[in-house]
Amino acid sequence: MQLSLFSNVKTVYANSDGPLDNESLYRRVAREAGISLKTVKEKSPIGESGQMHSKFQREVRWHQQTLKTAGLLQHTGQRGRWELTKEGKTSLRKAQPKASMVAFSTDLGTALWSLSADVFNAIDAPVTLCLTSPPYPLAKPRAYGNPSLNDYIEFIVDSMQPIVANLVDGGSICLNVSNDIFCPGTPARSIYREKLVIALAEELGLWKMDELIWSNPNKCPGPVRWASMTRQQLNVGYEPIYWFSNNPKKAIANNRRVLQPHSEKHLDFVRRGGNRMEKSCSDGAYRTPAGGYSRETEGRIPRNILTYPHNCPAQSKYKAAARSMGLAAHGAPYPLKLALFLIQFLSREGDLVVDPFAGSLTTAEGAEITGRKWLVTDCMLEYVLGGSTRFAHRESFRINPDFAALAA
Ligand SMILES: C[S@@+](CC[C@H](N)C(=O)[O-])C[C@H]1O[C@@H](n2cnc3c(N)ncnc32)[C@H](O)[C@@H]1O
Repeated sequence: MQLSLFSNVKTVYANSDGPLDNESLYRRVAREAGISLKTVKEKSPIGESGQMHSKFQREVRWHQQTLKTAGLLQHTGQRGRWELTKEGKTSLRKAQPKASMVAFSTDLGTALWSLSADVFNAIDAPVTLCLTSPPYPLAKPRAYGNPSLNDYIEFIVDSMQPIVANLVDGGSICLNVSNDIFCPGTPARSIYREKLVIALAEELGLWKMDELIWSNPNKCPGPVRWASMTRQQLNVGYEPIYWFSNNPKKAIANNRRVLQPHSEKHLDFVRRGGNRMEKSCSDGAYRTPAGGYSRETEGRIPRNILTYPHNCPAQSKYKAAARSMGLAAHGAPYPLKLALFLIQFLSREGDLVVDPFAGSLTTAEGAEITGRKWLVTDCMLEYVLGGSTRFAHRESFRINPDFAALAA
């Protein structure tokens, strides 16, 4: 069992939407560290008395105590529940305004430790795709902080404006946002998403191409208050991804780049000649002629529900590498396969893909793998440094010595 769980304990508190009791803490730390529940519960004799205890739980409580002693954890008034203090939440190093720093680069791309505005307000380069997941307007901010709901639309429009100004004709903006923002004290969802779409269309002249569904079968149960306690809501299984373009007719999208394999059943049907007779479905709304589906095609056109669990091998690898450097792993990365899909669908090899809120640099890794150029920023030094582990094996990887020195 791995018994160096300090950063896992801190990350779990940092990513929690509320104070945590110890049972939830154990569960989440185990998940974060990739430790099985069996190991969590395993008891062994400890000390002279030989009393049976869980080594894992003792280790977690030890780190919890360290955080309390350092003034990073506070009691909430609710029995047995603790949460990070303000200092605990801000122990990530945030870039100062007008102090951008190149962190590292490859032949295809550059990552900067910077506030996004400082870089994207200054660029003059043709962008084909902006794929990003901006911070969500959560009532309980994550470790890296969040804009409030009141400021959110202005923040996103201002962040997108310089990128839209550089967007090539038919370029795309893809925003992964949250549907799980509730009107205070109620199980009703905020309509900020609708307002955001209208603001982006009216203020930046973007066209809504689709609201893609990122279905995440491994999403943690929630919203706890409304689904598990009052039972007035269902557990959430998806996040929306808005796809906009500045010129829909010329959109540089091509589903041929993301075709999926046909099922054996479908191929068998095609090889047997497809439809034997004309078929009519949905009261005649759809007709397929006799002989329809008798020609083998290159692949299946994907549906607009993109199903990928968030804990994919690429993210586990990144998290392990970040932790081995003593860094907090990012708490909200999207799966690499989701990024790969959108990058291939919405850009071509050699095009420029950007991510102003790059977090653990998933978009950058997707662009690098698929031969796109890339430019990304994140304001937290620890995330950019952790994300650099995705690229360190590449021949063209070059870390800026000043950044490395700052990070040491
Ligand atoms: C939801 S996370 C992005 C996660 C990312 N898609 C991934 O796969 O790792 C949002 C990120 O935006 C960063 N951020 C917030 N405000 C920022 C700003 N003004 N400029 C640059 N980065 C910012 C946060 O540090 C955080 O890492």
